[in-house]
Amino acid sequence: MTSYKELGLVNSKELFQKAVKGGYAIPAFNFNNLEQLQAIIGACVETKSPVILQVSSGARKYANQTLLKHLAKGAVEYAKDLGFEVPIVLHLDHGDTLELCTSCVESGFSSVMIDGSHHPYDKNVELTKQVVEYAHAHGVTVEGELGVLAGIEDDVSSAVSHYTKPEEVEDFVKKTGVDSLAISIGTSHGANKFTPDQCTRNADGVLIPPPLRFDILEECERRIPGFPIVLHGASSVPPELVKLINSNGGKLNDAVGIPEEQLRRAAASAVCKINIDSDGRLAMTAAIRKVLMDSPAEFDPRKYLGPARDQLKELYKYKIVNVLGSAGKA
Ligand code: G3H
Ligand code: 13P
Ligand code: ZN
Repeated sequence: MTSYKELGLVNSKELFQKAVKGGYAIPAFNFNNLEQLQAIIGACVETKSPVILQVSSGARKYANQTLLKHLAKGAVEYAKDLGFEVPIVLHLDHGDTLELCTSCVESGFSSVMIDGSHHPYDKNVELTKQVVEYAHAHGVTVEGELGVLAGIEDDVSSAVSHYTKPEEVEDFVKKTGVDSLAISIGTSHGANKFTPDQCTRNADGVLIPPPLRFDILEECERRIPGFPIVLHGASSVPPELVKLINSNGGKLNDAVGIPEEQLRRAAASAVCKINIDSDGRLAMTAAIRKVLMDSPAEFDPRKYLGPARDQLKELYKYKIVNVLGSAGKA
């Protein structure tokens, strides 16, 4: 058993309390590899932002759980080396079983998500409660989820039952003891969040997605005042990155994300954690494609992973300063 405290990490409790009061959101950036980790920590140190390092179960398999533990400890030391000690949370993203959450707690995670949102309500409550009991005994914070995020295969605009039902949130929070709650208000995972026929086009022909359901968010806030709320699927899918990828041999069609101004509005409310993965994937891919197209003879990974890391760091800094509002809050 390795406690997150031995690694120099923190849980999310205090960070969320401050974020809800301060009207900003903590960035939750997914990572699988060294370059992503360097970019995240570099961006957070330069902007003095707290950060949640987020690892999916797929990422944990990819990176190896033993290496991950040491990478997280290394991230804490790396921030100090860069000259500013930012609070760092190591968080399991979309945990689906008690066993996975337990294993993460035992290998140094300071926060876990149990995503029981695909289960019937009572089963979601039961599973989440079990995870909370185990995690809290080790000082680890827990994120639960109510409502199902749509993917590209789902029809966001008509599948009303996918949105979080505000009338369930009080009961869920009370029965489970979770520390934060992910809700579904119209965001979704991946780069293709909406089909073109779900969108309208502005004067420049850019696809504009249906607005987030702030009415649902506000009703949740009214029912659980001051309780930390989480937004998944919050990439904005910047058109310039999609263009750069496609002009260098890529083929990303109809990629549409969540407009930044809507995320800023959410961050100013009780939304205190915003998950961003896809935008980072796009930034890295765009940089790598460009180097390899411009220099077809290049075969040193540092020559394309280095620029990818730089582009990723800039993207994260931009998000922290302009979208999340967490700069200077470390
Ligand atoms: O919400 C999912 C995250 O973007 C992680 O994706 O399971 O492909 O690592 P992944
Ligand atoms: P995106 O795919 O919009 O980046 O969402 C990531 C996420 O929610 C991770 O849990
Ligand atoms: Zn997610």
